[in-house]
Amino acid sequence: QQRETFFEEIGKEKIDELVEAFYKRVSNHPDLIPIFPDDLTETIRKQKQFLTQFFGGPPLYVEEHGHPMLRARHLPFKITPTRRDAWLSCMSGAMNEVDIQEPHRSFMFERLTMTANHMMNSPEDEK
Ligand code: HEM
Repeated sequence: QQRETFFEEIGKEKIDELVEAFYKRVSNHPDLIPIFPDDLTETIRKQKQFLTQFFGGPPLYVEEHGHPMLRARHLPFKITPTRRDAWLSCMSGAMNEVDIQEPHRSFMFERLTMTANHMMNSPEDEK
């Protein structure tokens, strides 16, 4: 399946809803609270841009912020296996909440899981 086709099917509104539902969970997750800012407004705005482009939509993130360099941008934060699992569990819950269905759900979750694995930069005990 073409990425552009996928984006047309899922739609920009759904991506935006997903990001809102996701950060609502992040802001209440004990493993994630310590590394995220209290005010998530700007984080939410950037993540909507990023995921729009990540899932085949217009390159909103790169237009405003340049190359994502995601791993480098995450290096200031200790991302342990526990935090990766927490991030993915917030995402999974958000996907349920906004009702993203198969086959879209698996396609999205697999890609997000690969990226989340790539973001890990710290062993467990250095939380
Ligand atoms: C930013 C944590 C995985 C995309 C951030 C920030 C934190 C964070 C703490 C900074 C928030 C801020 O200061 O505004 C994590 C953790 C992850 C994870 C714990 C677990 C593995 C991912 C994944 C993606 C992603 C899988 C993409 C698919 C982004 C983007 C930003 C960001 C686009 C904004 C970068 C910018 O400042 O321009 N993340 N992240 N993150 N994260 Fe993650």
